Amino acid sequence: MFSNDESNNPSNNPSMQDVIDTCNHQRRTLLKGSIGVATWAAFGGMGLSTGALAKGGHGGNAADPLIGFTPVSANTLPMTDMVSVPAGYSTRVFVAWGDALSHGANWDPATEMTEAQQLRSYGAHTDGMHFFPFPAEPARAGNMHGLLVSNSEYNDPGLVHATLSYSSDEMTAERVDTQLAAHGVNVVEALRPARKGDWKIKRPSRLARRITGKTPMAVSGPAAGHAMLKTPADPSGMRVLGTLNNCANGYTPWGTYLTCEENFNGYFGTTDAAFVQTPHEKRYGVSKGGFGYRWHEADPRFDLRADGQVSNEPNRFGWVVEIDPFDPKSTPVKRTALGRFKHEGAWVVVDDNDNLAVYMGDDERFEYVYKFVSAHKLDKQVGARRMKARHREMLDHGTLYAARFNADGSGEWLALVHGENSLTAANGFADQGEVLIRARAAADLLGATKMDRPEWGAVHPHSREVYMTMTNNTARSAAQIDAANPRAKNIHGHIVRWREAGNRVTATAFEWDLFVQAGDSLDANPDLQGTINGDDYGSPDGLWFDRDGRLWIQTDQAGTATGAYANIGGNVMMCADVTTGETRRFLTAPPNAEVTGVTTTPDGKSMFVGIQHPGEDWTAGFTENSSWPDNGANGPTTASASGPAKPRSAVVVITKDDGGVIGS
Ligand code: FEO
Ligand code: CA
Ligand code: CA
Ligand code: CA
Repeated sequence: MFSNDESNNPSNNPSMQDVIDTCNHQRRTLLKGSIGVATWAAFGGMGLSTGALAKGGHGGNAADPLIGFTPVSANTLPMTDMVSVPAGYSTRVFVAWGDALSHGANWDPATEMTEAQQLRSYGAHTDGMHFFPFPAEPARAGNMHGLLVSNSEYNDPGLVHATLSYSSDEMTAERVDTQLAAHGVNVVEALRPARKGDWKIKRPSRLARRITGKTPMAVSGPAAGHAMLKTPADPSGMRVLGTLNNCANGYTPWGTYLTCEENFNGYFGTTDAAFVQTPHEKRYGVSKGGFGYRWHEADPRFDLRADGQVSNEPNRFGWVVEIDPFDPKSTPVKRTALGRFKHEGAWVVVDDNDNLAVYMGDDERFEYVYKFVSAHKLDKQVGARRMKARHREMLDHGTLYAARFNADGSGEWLALVHGENSLTAANGFADQGEVLIRARAAADLLGATKMDRPEWGAVHPHSREVYMTMTNNTARSAAQIDAANPRAKNIHGHIVRWREAGNRVTATAFEWDLFVQAGDSLDANPDLQGTINGDDYGSPDGLWFDRDGRLWIQTDQAGTATGAYANIGGNVMMCADVTTGETRRFLTAPPNAEVTGVTTTPDGKSMFVGIQHPGEDWTAGFTENSSWPDNGANGPTTASASGPAKPRSAVVVITKDDGGVIGS
């Protein structure tokens, strides 16, 4: 029902089958040695970022190992209904769906969720997140006090409405409003009252905020006010209500949060018998039935043919949204220069020349990797107080590119610029606004490489190599494999990495290789064994580098510990040293839960991790086989003890018992 395992890309872009024979040898050579910072420099002849390297000081060598913990066991059958971390670490529930953020009582999960309760409570299905220390407080205080800003990607209607027979329930405007309130972004004021005490939500909080599927937003950049963004309710094409399916995230050097709209198409539908899907709707998966939310039955905004006309409302989603978490009255802004697709996240990199790029993935089978390069440089001289105002338009002017991964390990960034590279009126693109609104179609024309579902990116803090997960693609046939997506029926996924020519984000050429192919080393089928140096995992999704260069890898497979996952177990968070390739299992999740979202305090000593949809088995009609976290397995929660144990997405906070850096 809510899976994005679909493909809407009909283009004939290269799958590089024609060159696969020549590339195999080269790929094997590239994959053989894990590439460390020094090797990158030799490989690409690139300069390295200074400062961080000296500061981090970790080289993954035996004397000072980057990873110091003993791996936790895989959560195989019979699964434990809890989050497990290695010996020497503690994990506790920090905030769960329905917990009040500032005022009023927590939701009692035994009762029906209401719009009013949800608007002042943590949203459903937590996802990407970032910890912002208070800029005006001393650095030390920032490790004990900050804003945890996180996404609430979607909701399970059966849990929201206290019934598991959603498909036969009447859809009402009230129910739609409650679900809209369960989506969006959370701003939570997090406080650790004592150096070794438990983290708490600071209540009341002047800064606590919910941004939802109805919060007014501005639209900026080249597509703002475009005819394709105008609706009867908003003839300006500049004011949108809400953000939806907020998956992963990003954060900027000027202190704002980026939230990314992924499977927005699933909320739309129509009962209009005359509905005929347009090619544009088809390219983005906008369809009559949607993902089964049925919002269109009670809210005409989500009806694709409410007045018999083609609705522009879907065009107002699929963007990256910038939010100032420290100003609760600020209006979120949809930044159209970054293109419209099923955005997983947005990862910002600044190079030695102060140029800025945002790396992004379009998470669907056979979709593309993108990069936005700002036309402006980062102004590092401006004082902290003027930082945000100075960079207000940083993400409005620049160039969007799609990636082509060549078989020889080189790559090219293809510019999505109107009037260039076939993106002309004659080919159906009226202007730059349309190029951005129809970014997928524009990238089709440029010949970008079709990938195995690009999910999270992560930027190495020292070398600026970009890593990106390709979570899986079981639809890729043997005839469609290519160097960057080398397995047919790719159930376990892989991680691609690249570095820009000259280590400049403005480069249009890059070098790439595969960091790893995930898999089960015990599988009898060599194609499914993977290339992991360490503990096995499948379907890498969440990805993040900490300040020392540990790569944290979060997974999103079925989470049942059956079939292909009998050995791998449920979903996990791994920790990898990218210099040696060594990978250890750091965290295991409850049954059917996905692990998604990770951030730490600036000192790296408190880590927040998202546990999404525990117990959700949509293959069996949303039966729930978990009672986490209210089963108390990771500490007491705020739920009433009386009600039925209903699984809830939640954020856990992890600390090391000796007070050290997480992962060390
Ligand atoms: Fe929301 Fe692609 O994960
Ligand atoms: Ca994801
Ligand atoms: Ca996923
Ligand atoms: Ca999932």
